Amino acid sequence: MITDPRTPYPWINFLGCEEFFSILTNTAGGYSFYKDARLRRITRYRYNNVPVDDGGKYFYIHENGTVWSPGWKPVRRELDRYECRHGMGYSVITGELDQLEAEVLYMVPLGVHAEVQRVRLTNKSDRRRSFSLFSFVEWCLWDALDDASNFQRNFSTGQVEIAGSTIYHKTEYRERRDHYAFYTVNQEVAGYDSDREAFLGMYNGFDAPDAVMECRSRNSHAHGWSPIASHHLRIELDPGEEKSVVFLLGYVEVPAGEKFTARQVINKAPAEQLIKRFEDLGQVEAAFGELGGFWDGLLSVFQVEHPEKELMRSVNSWNQYQCMVTFNFSRSASFFESGIGRGMGFRDSNQDLIGFVHQVPERARERIIDIASTQFEDGGAYHQYQPLTKKGNDAVGSNFNDDPLWLILSTDEYIRETGDWGILDEQVPFDNDESNKASLFKHLGRSFQHVVNNLGPHGLPLIGRADWNDCLNLNCFSETPGESFQTTENREGGVAESVFIAGMFVLYGEVYVDICRRIGENRKAVEAAAHIAAMREVIDKHGWDGEWFVRAYDHFGEKVGSNECEEGKIFIESQGFCIMAGIGINDGRARKALDSVKERLDCEFGIVLNNPAFTRYIVKYGEISSYPEGYKENAGIFCHNNPWIMIAETLLGNGEAAWEYFRKICPPYLEEISDLHKTEPYVYAQMIAGKDAHKPGEAKNSWLTGTAAWNFYTISQFILGIRPHYDGLLIHPVIPASWKGYKVTRKFRGATYLIEVSNPDGVSSGVKEILLNGSRLQANLVPVCDPGSTNTVEVILGK
Ligand code: GLC
Ligand code: GLC
Repeated sequence: MITDPRTPYPWINFLGCEEFFSILTNTAGGYSFYKDARLRRITRYRYNNVPVDDGGKYFYIHENGTVWSPGWKPVRRELDRYECRHGMGYSVITGELDQLEAEVLYMVPLGVHAEVQRVRLTNKSDRRRSFSLFSFVEWCLWDALDDASNFQRNFSTGQVEIAGSTIYHKTEYRERRDHYAFYTVNQEVAGYDSDREAFLGMYNGFDAPDAVMECRSRNSHAHGWSPIASHHLRIELDPGEEKSVVFLLGYVEVPAGEKFTARQVINKAPAEQLIKRFEDLGQVEAAFGELGGFWDGLLSVFQVEHPEKELMRSVNSWNQYQCMVTFNFSRSASFFESGIGRGMGFRDSNQDLIGFVHQVPERARERIIDIASTQFEDGGAYHQYQPLTKKGNDAVGSNFNDDPLWLILSTDEYIRETGDWGILDEQVPFDNDESNKASLFKHLGRSFQHVVNNLGPHGLPLIGRADWNDCLNLNCFSETPGESFQTTENREGGVAESVFIAGMFVLYGEVYVDICRRIGENRKAVEAAAHIAAMREVIDKHGWDGEWFVRAYDHFGEKVGSNECEEGKIFIESQGFCIMAGIGINDGRARKALDSVKERLDCEFGIVLNNPAFTRYIVKYGEISSYPEGYKENAGIFCHNNPWIMIAETLLGNGEAAWEYFRKICPPYLEEISDLHKTEPYVYAQMIAGKDAHKPGEAKNSWLTGTAAWNFYTISQFILGIRPHYDGLLIHPVIPASWKGYKVTRKFRGATYLIEVSNPDGVSSGVKEILLNGSRLQANLVPVCDPGSTNTVEVILGK
């Protein structure tokens, strides 16, 4: 709940979880789109605008010369009360002035291509009130990039139709489009506008539209320029009376051949059907209830009861919600992703999956197949694919040599969650070629083999364009301003190798070996195990720097991330992945590396990526050294990889350190420093400025980041210690010794487990005893129970 509209940065929410989506800020800014934020943008938005966040789903109230907005913006008339409540798939923004309250519920119902806005007006005074309510949205001419650039054409194409209280946006419908949008209200209107300049006046902003200030719509009809939709309602309220009106911003497609009912008259039947579904308040209530039930269902799979309310707020709702939002939006549209940029990342999508597979396993299954279908026969992968076509993205290319291995992670986590070994038999194409398919299991084998087939002179995996760190471009050598570090031609003959991929290969290679064994592919298991053993030796020989793991070898075979380097002596990624792979755990190197992380990378706000930060551009390192110190991949706190260190600490049984790192970047714990942190204190940001930055602690790029998945994965499976396993739930908490206990409700393969962990001896880890429904288990693996059953699991930690 936000009670001051002047947040340090717009604090947003995401509406919609299927095909119709909206982004909404706490002051009602934002936009909507259908499926694709670039090609099917429904309403217009201007990124990086001044003032920030201008344009959105606005309402204006005009009462006797006083004009205000329930969301404070755009009018910015001081309110007696303001409140924005962001919830799971909905937001409620309320303003009150002079005892008139206006509450707007924004939501995208399930199964509907529309945003519903219910405006509830309450007269809290003892006098009769008579006032006007104006609505406002601005249409985008569909292709968001073209809309923001091709003015010579676009100022002449805009078209609308108006019928009753509905304003239809039909630009380009006369030619090749089979879709239009509309904005309606379930009331008769006193007037309307559909031409922006008529509504605003040529030189006004959204804060003072002429039509609103003069309390008189122009009944304008847009021809070209900028079409909008605005309704004018006259409202009378007795003392104490409350009235609600329902606005609907919808999108419809019309079958070819049925597009028009007369020349120039669009077929409105599909819109009218949609409008009928939200005509009365009961229908809106029902849809809202259904949406709530949907989210309750998703979140109920993992719920923790714990004395730390911040932990509960994150784990039980917002962190899981962020994982679902990231699933739905990938990296396409947020306050930092403009919706016109990226496709879906091969590596990103696989990692995102570990944060939502427990909530929507069937959709995770589809996603895995989609991703694997873009893989090449040799195991390599397009770095990105386009969500609409599901085809690999040629423009970005391939050769990011960590990509293939992430498929093993996602598939394994899916099988752990569901027990669905059948997915491995699924026939999946290579490079979307339906005539060239192999089982998903074979795809995993190709992923593994891709590393084996691409080793460098030390026997470490060749890095290719880059590994997880997209900005460590060891073969790029770019000297041309503006050239993309990710797509430019790489220098031939490089021998750059990645210790990070080596650690990853051991970690996910062993997972692959387990899978082989489980399905009886023993020969493959033995072969793979031999490659892994060899890689371990190579890491021991060439991957250890004395106090920590080396990061890479550059194009010329020189160490990256070594004490020998002038800057960038130590990097976080190889510490995380080598230790997660178990390397150095038994001989003290892991501890040493983690102590080095603590000493050199940790700071007040999290763990930075590398140290010392690069203070100049180093052509042989590429983009990493292009960022000023403390930002992004150059010694920023990349919240995505902090959990790798947390997991590493849990593997050494160090619950205090894991928790301390977790807490440092966990959003609710940052609420107090919001003025510094800036982004929403309920979701993770990709990056927090590191200790070398101008303003350490300031976050950027909130919401759409792999950080959400990795942190949920870490807290639920490695700290709270409830880890899905092929044969049940593995219970292995690693927590601060001071914790007395907690409870987790976990739904798993159709059964419910009520898990109560108690820590009478004050230990950090070590399960002394587990009782399942009162009977003692021999090991800390809770078996799969009957679907539909509810089971109690008592876990007693101790020495
Ligand atoms: C636009 C184009 C121009 C073209 C003209 C007539 O002005 O920029 O190239 O000749 O339209 O179609
Ligand atoms: C961005 C990319 C991700 C990459 C990370 C580190 O988050 O989406 O793929 O791993 O940056 O460079």
